[in-house]
Parts: sequence; structure tokens; C-alpha cells
Amino acid sequence: MTAVTTSLFPALPSPARATRLRSRLLGWYGENARDLPWRRTSDAYAILVSEAMLQQTQVATVVDYYHRFLKAFPDARSLADAKEEDVLALWSGLGYYRRARSLQSAARVMVTEHAGHFPMDPKAALDLPGVGRYTAGAVLSIAHGLPQALVDGNVERVFSRFFGLDGVSGSRELVAQCWELAELLVPQERAGDWNQALMELGALICTPRQAACAECPLKRSCQARKDGRVSELPRPKVRVAAKALDVEMLLIRRGSRILLEQRADGQALGGLWQLPTRVIGGGGSRLFDGEWPHGLGAVDGPDLGRLRHGIMRFTIRARLRLGTARGRKGSAFAWFEAEQLEALGLTAMARKALAGLKEWPPETD
Ligand code: ADE
Repeated sequence: MTAVTTSLFPALPSPARATRLRSRLLGWYGENARDLPWRRTSDAYAILVSEAMLQQTQVATVVDYYHRFLKAFPDARSLADAKEEDVLALWSGLGYYRRARSLQSAARVMVTEHAGHFPMDPKAALDLPGVGRYTAGAVLSIAHGLPQALVDGNVERVFSRFFGLDGVSGSRELVAQCWELAELLVPQERAGDWNQALMELGALICTPRQAACAECPLKRSCQARKDGRVSELPRPKVRVAAKALDVEMLLIRRGSRILLEQRADGQALGGLWQLPTRVIGGGGSRLFDGEWPHGLGAVDGPDLGRLRHGIMRFTIRARLRLGTARGRKGSAFAWFEAEQLEALGLTAMARKALAGLKEWPPETD
């Protein structure tokens, strides 16, 4: 294949260069691939679960979640039949709960339309809820060896440096260039290994900061290395500064139980349980109301604790206070025993607040 002149950039690799690149990287992967649980299976459903978890979350965090999730929901049918709150509980702490909901919706479509299987046809795969080009490419190449390309943040970084692409990370132009390269380079054989090798190189060697170029199998032909621009590429996107939000959270005890509030469906983190929370400063936010619901309130006295928590575009500064609850509070509220909390779909901020308590505070309610 010759270089395509209409390409967005001049440097599409020649077939000979592509062959050398594949063989070096696959050789390196053979020697250096981490032994990860989802690399020991060719079950497309299990690989779909791993990919859903790995979006936005580090490998080290995902491993335990992956085992627990597959133990509870070993196949698409069991996930399709599960109660959403049980799915969210097993996702609690991974964040980005929409991924869990989409995964369950995808399992339901797999059951109703594909006999419980992940479809082999890329177009049908893309019709599954939450499955975009990346996930379809990952599952089809890793589980079934189909020559489907993928691009994630790691691949973007590796390509941007190796080919010297001067784009802004995540920009439409750079992402399009990377997809073009990924599709050109994905081999007919071992496509799953190739895709994972690219991501593995990005995770272990071609890291965002302080890349380990001396150990890189591609160092001799890396454009950014030749140009001394490894740490500059891909160019960072301009970050929107996080907005500070001050909140109060209430710890309300009755006997051995505490009061939690379930976030509404359709709201961010919908369906998860939180300590009753209200905004007290930092401007408006749709995350929390500014008033306590009827009957709830804080008790005068020192804070039980303080914490910071980053979510979406916010840095939340939270005070944890003792609270009381009187009268009817509505169906979003419920009392829980301490032992129930572990298995409950709690928000990460509630988990953090409860983990920070040295002891259960006195009863006030
Ligand atoms: N990131 C997401 N999926 C991955 C995989 N299978 N291997 C390496 N990194 C990944």
C-alpha cells in the first residue's frame, strides 16, 4: 500500500515499516505483557466487563472489581436479570456509574437479540448500549481475533510520539489521525495482541510523564525521540479549572442504624446512596440542593470530620456533621445497619466520609 495523499498528515507508514513495527511491538508484548485476568479468557462478555471497567480506571484498581463482578454475574444473562442496585453496589468505588448501567443494558440486548452473546458483527456490536468504536474494537479483536482497530488514550499517546503527530490530546484532528493509523496497522492475525500491545506500551513505557524511552522496543524509529519532543507530545488539552463547592453532610443515627438518601435517577450518580448533603457555598450546582429536606438538620457541635473529593468539574470540600431527622422524609431516605453498607451502592464521597470516622458517633436522633 502506498501513502495516501489525501491523508490528514504526510507520514503514513510504508508496508515495510508497518511490518517491522508490528513485529517489534508484538515481540516486546510477548515478553512483557502483564498477566491480567481478562487476558486469560476469550469470553467476549468477560472482556466487555473488563473494558467497561478499564475506561477511566487504573488496571490495579480494576482487578478485584472484575473478579467480584464476574463471580456475581458470570454471563450476560445473569447480568441482564440482576437488580440495578446490585450491579451498582458491585461497581461502587469505580466511579462513572453510567458505565455500569450501560453494561447491564448491553447485556439485556445481548440476551434478547443475540442469544446472550456479544455479536461478532462490528455494526451490531456498535448498536449495544455504551459500546463505541473503542469497545467494539477491543472486544472483537481480543475475544475473537477479528482485525478491528482501537484507539484509547494510551494508543493516542504512542502514535502521537512515534509518528510525531503535533496535535492536541483528545482533539478531533489527532483522534482521527490515530484511527486512520490504527486501521492501517491492525494486523490480520493477532489483532487482539496487537491492540493490547499498543495499550501496554502506553501504560508501561510510553507513559504520560517520564517515558522510559531507554526500554522502548520502538525507540530507534520514534519521531518524537529523534526530535527531543517526547515530553511535549501529545500536546495537553487546556484544562478547565475545577470549581470549588462547599457542602455539609449529615451523619444521623437511630439505634444502630444510619440514615442515607438515594440519589434520583437521571441525576449525576443516580441510584447511589449518599449521606444527606447540602451545598453551603461555592455557588450553584446541580449535584446537591441548598436546603435540608423537611425534618433534617445539623446538630450544633464540632465537625465529625472534613474531606475533599473531586467529582466531574468540582472539588468538593465537605464537612461531616451530626444530624437529626424528624417526621417524614420521603421515599429517597432509608435507614441502614453498618453491616449493610459494604454491599450497598454508596457514592465514593459517602464511602470516604464513613471510612474517615474513627468511631461511630453518639446517637442524636
Ligand atoms: N486498557 C483497556 N483495556 C486494556 C487491555 N486489554 N490491555 C491493556 N490496557 C488496556
